[in-house]
Amino acid sequence: MQVQDTDIHENLPLEALRQLQFERLKQTLHHAYQNSAVYRRKFDAAGVHPDDLHTLADLAKFPFTTKQDLRENYPFGMFAVPKQDIVRLHASSGTTGKPTVVGYTQQDIHTWADLVARCLRVAGLDHSDTVQVAYGYGLFTGGLGAHYGVERLGATVIPMSGGQTEKQIQLIQDFQPTALMVTPSYCVNIIEQLEKQYGTAKETSLKVGIFGAEPWTEEMRREIETRLNIKALDIYGLSEVMGPGVAMQAADDNTGLTIWEDHFYPEIIHPETGEVLPDGEMGELVFTTITKQGMPVIRYRTRDLTCLMQGQHCAMRRMQKVVGRSDDMLIIRGVNVFPTQIEEQILKIPQLIPNYEIHVSKKGYMDTLHIRTEMSQYTQTAALQLAQELQHKIKTMVGVSVTVEILAETMLPRSEGKAKRVIDLRKIA
Ligand code: DLL
Repeated sequence: MQVQDTDIHENLPLEALRQLQFERLKQTLHHAYQNSAVYRRKFDAAGVHPDDLHTLADLAKFPFTTKQDLRENYPFGMFAVPKQDIVRLHASSGTTGKPTVVGYTQQDIHTWADLVARCLRVAGLDHSDTVQVAYGYGLFTGGLGAHYGVERLGATVIPMSGGQTEKQIQLIQDFQPTALMVTPSYCVNIIEQLEKQYGTAKETSLKVGIFGAEPWTEEMRREIETRLNIKALDIYGLSEVMGPGVAMQAADDNTGLTIWEDHFYPEIIHPETGEVLPDGEMGELVFTTITKQGMPVIRYRTRDLTCLMQGQHCAMRRMQKVVGRSDDMLIIRGVNVFPTQIEEQILKIPQLIPNYEIHVSKKGYMDTLHIRTEMSQYTQTAALQLAQELQHKIKTMVGVSVTVEILAETMLPRSEGKAKRVIDLRKIA
């Protein structure tokens, strides 16, 4: 498959964009059917053939791909090119079972770098910027994905990787980066260390933060923006589809992230029935890659919950900030609860620290939630009072009764990458 350079498509009118997507989708379906035994089997079993695609809407006839498919075909069974054409592997550790492996051709790596560079450009950065990458390097796509994008933009990259917080701070002081790419939870950790060391985190050289790899709330955005005195923007992606840079919030867009639709075709489906939902309705995000060679994915179920919205600057649609993953959703006495809803309430109380754990356990037949978070200037009396306040807020705003424990600052573990918010004690008992 011949893939052209990407940025010329950003300003395509809607009709031309849909035509480009249709052509690329058709090519991708043929490529997957001809070159991947897994897709051939899946399409045959569903009684569909790439020739059955007459419009973009016909994609709904094709079967979904799930993480399970990747696991069952570990390590290289999903690849659609000979192994010698794969130049890079990434893998996710996964909490259960085998890891999932993804493979990229040289062309895929090239496209990825172009798209991350595009993300950085809509974030307002250019070649004169210096970007500290504090996403982990290695099998995780965050570090290397960000890294190549910064270089493609022509900016200066500081390949710091995750962890070593003191060194992160030293480099911020010495190398004067203008942008930081990091998970929001690890950013809070860096802010705490800056404040501890310098009394304030507001006076660094940083102007922009590009945050993703985990769900985070508008409240968390405000907290980070205020304490670090930067603009905080949202970057979305997943390794199965590419890595960071599938969608990006533009600097002047307060409501959504533009999906790079010239490379990824999005759908929103009903998480239980699999039915395709119209734009504007909340559901599970599904992606089909339309230019990837090494490992195309057809209707990949992300488990991320969001909705699609009209484009703002271009014809490409946007997605709302991800609410959470359907697998992270807790059902407490019939009420659906996402960790982000708890985060929202914690951040409404100024004395509380935006670091928390949600413990889920079983009392009899009932699942119960216990929230642990921290406060600054701890006293027992204040902690009890704040616990009651948070409990009340969660009851009235989220609709569930929880128990709350407020600890002194630094009692909970700090994130250095993706934060582990939910601790499921039901699985231990
Ligand atoms: O987390 C890729 C990435 C790296 C994205 C750095 C952004 C920045 P995975 O490890 O495969 O890939 O995890 C993908 O992380 O399905 C979402 O559940 C979650 N996620 C990623 N970005 C966001 C975001 C990388 N901006 C999974 N908001 C996805 C909410 C996000 N959740």
